[in-house]
Amino acid sequence: MTAQYRAFLVEESEGKFSSSITELEKPQPQENEVLIKVEYSSLNYKDALCATGVKGVAASYPFVPGIDAVGIVQESFSKDFSKGDRVICSGYNLGMSVYGGFGNYICVPETWIVNCPTNMDSLSAMSYGVAGLTSAACIEAIMENLDQNAKPIVVSGASGGVGSIAVGILLKLGFKVTAISTKGTSKEGIDFFKLLAGRHENNLSVIDTETFLGEGVRPLDKANFSAGIDTVGGEFLSKILSQVEPKGVVSCCGNVAGGSFKSSVFPFILRGISLVGIDSQDSPLQKKQNFWDKLAADWNLDLQSQTKVITLDELQEEITTILEGGQLGRVVIKHGDDQ
Ligand SMILES: NC(=O)c1ccc[n+]([C@@H]2O[C@H](COP(=O)([O-])OP(=O)(O)OC[C@H]3O[C@@H](n4cnc5c(N)ncnc54)[C@H](OP(=O)(O)O)[C@@H]3O)[C@@H](O)[C@H]2O)c1
Repeated sequence: MTAQYRAFLVEESEGKFSSSITELEKPQPQENEVLIKVEYSSLNYKDALCATGVKGVAASYPFVPGIDAVGIVQESFSKDFSKGDRVICSGYNLGMSVYGGFGNYICVPETWIVNCPTNMDSLSAMSYGVAGLTSAACIEAIMENLDQNAKPIVVSGASGGVGSIAVGILLKLGFKVTAISTKGTSKEGIDFFKLLAGRHENNLSVIDTETFLGEGVRPLDKANFSAGIDTVGGEFLSKILSQVEPKGVVSCCGNVAGGSFKSSVFPFILRGISLVGIDSQDSPLQKKQNFWDKLAADWNLDLQSQTKVITLDELQEEITTILEGGQLGRVVIKHGDDQ
């Protein structure tokens, strides 16, 4: 009998999508591929879109979502990786056209994986996951010419995966941060940001979304921020662009609040602002490895208090929460020892 493994499978029937935990046939790696036994994977906004059939993520259904995973190489047809290596796969076509991290095994090309840094355990690796890589890329893009005495850096969607890690790293690096959050005034939000800031509490201010968007967007506004990281798009991005001081950089990585935005040329031609797009999914493998090394060293955070660890069986509930904007920090899936 062919070996099986457990996975969260999404199926389509007459335009409706449903999910179940199912036994699938274990894939057989081909030349230059590796079979990885997944230890941990993580839940990203994109995975939730994929799990509910939103077009543009999975190439086809039935499908196993999950754009990242860390685990142990079980079978290798690669020159660079051997059985027993602990590796991370994030982005590329994992969870897009190749069955992803919501299964106990993944089978991927060697060109998609990096060694997990030896000083980073597997749970920590997925507490960062693609969200950590994306935060790191957003931060790298705004860092040039920034000093710690500058005005605060604004981060939107600040309680979500990418946003919360970006806030944590920026505070650790000594920057002042203004976090924009829909949960800014709720008790759970206040408690979350207090924990996130830790001893850097004085460098963090939190503004709730309604106050931030308040009077709408002007072509140019008071320059309150030295730079910005926008994880939500739409009006948030417009507002951030209008409030960044001359020569500031804004990283744009997300679209949970909308795929389009209105702006004017004025932030660009009167303040010399740069808008940088971040695509961590397809960034070169060496760049990903560099970010993992940074996250394991100088940019390392203790993400324990902002990470919820669940099993595959608890995933559906978390998918609903993330789609409603309810995510606080990160959700990591621990995979069983069974199959
Ligand atoms: N470009 C890339 O390479 C890349 C890589 C990873 C992720 N992304 C994108 O970055 C975005 C954030 O990803 P994530 O994994 O951090 O997601 P997440 O954990 O769900 O965080 C998103 C946060 O945005 C805020 N938000 C504001 N309006 C929202 C709305 N209408 N619906 C849902 N959330 C809303 C919420 O935070 P508050 O309550 O604090 O406002 C929410 O927690 C997504 O669009 C994702 O696709 C892009």
